[in-house]
Amino acid sequence: MVSPMSSLETDDAAFIRSLPKAELHMHIEGSLEPELLFAIAERNGISLPYADVEALRAAYSFADLQSFLDLYYQGADVLRTEDDFADLMAAYLERAHADGVRRVEMFFDPQTHTERGVGFDVFMPGFLRAMNEAANRTGISTALILCFLRHLSPESAWETFDQAEQGGYLDSIIGVGLDSGEVGNPPEQFADVFDRAAEAGLHRVAHAGEEGPPSYIWGALDALDVERIDHGVRAEEDPELIARLLIDKVPLTMCPLSNLALCVVDDLADHNLGRLLDQGLMVTINSDDPAYFGGYVGTNYEQTAEALELSRDELVQLARNSIRASFASDEEKDRWLAEIAELDELAENG
Ligand code: ADE
Ligand code: ZN
Repeated sequence: MVSPMSSLETDDAAFIRSLPKAELHMHIEGSLEPELLFAIAERNGISLPYADVEALRAAYSFADLQSFLDLYYQGADVLRTEDDFADLMAAYLERAHADGVRRVEMFFDPQTHTERGVGFDVFMPGFLRAMNEAANRTGISTALILCFLRHLSPESAWETFDQAEQGGYLDSIIGVGLDSGEVGNPPEQFADVFDRAAEAGLHRVAHAGEEGPPSYIWGALDALDVERIDHGVRAEEDPELIARLLIDKVPLTMCPLSNLALCVVDDLADHNLGRLLDQGLMVTINSDDPAYFGGYVGTNYEQTAEALELSRDELVQLARNSIRASFASDEEKDRWLAEIAELDELAENG
């Protein structure tokens, strides 16, 4: 049977987009494009310290994680109303769908909003409305992961968890995560609130080994009992840790363009994603903060494939890993894995 897929073989970008995939590491606030940021600021009567969209985009040049976070938190400040959060979510889900994403598990940072008086009852209805609309229109499967900001105190994390619970929003999230400035903020301090999340039946993930040392990855695994490590680039410095990640099949949600933009690597060709994949680790490719780092998930696959000379088999493996590492139902995973198998077979026979 001749399938429209067979023509994609000559076109890597189209092949990548046709691959059913999951995006497991994306901060919804990091998908706020300068155009939408300006539009929302204008309707909310907020004046920005940038003349226009180009001037803002020109400021997106970072020396490290903290220099990015400063701009990222400033950008999120324009988000004030339920519609702002719905528009942000709708725009990202449209882009993800265009990249062949079947499943997204998105981070959101409640404290970034509650600290400036914008509560759960504003952002959650906005997110959920846009997620429902996108699911009805495109079939995309979506889920939210509530992230605690690690530069704030464990008490603030507890307060955030309580607000989510009291607002009746625990049923609307699938897990908790840990993000923001890593170095100097080890995971162990958040063990109690992660325990509470586990008791409530929530999944657990944490950023670790992005800028921080391998000991922070051990801490995330042992003290927070996480099921995935977000980033994990620095795991390679510790062979025992690599063995642990292999034995326990712990997925790494890697973000190559983010690592390049934040100077975690000097060159995409130096990224260890290919080496870790070769060693059998459960590596996945994700966009992190696509509006700030020059690409959504499809572009991350493309540029990484080019820089590391990844084969089609490796791209298929990465897409499979993303589905397997997701917290979707077995029924959904089986469906998407079958779609990948079909595509893979067509590519081989084509
Ligand atoms: N928040 C948004 N993007 C992040 C990243 N790459 N690392 C830590 N916290 C973040
Ligand atoms: Zn991240």
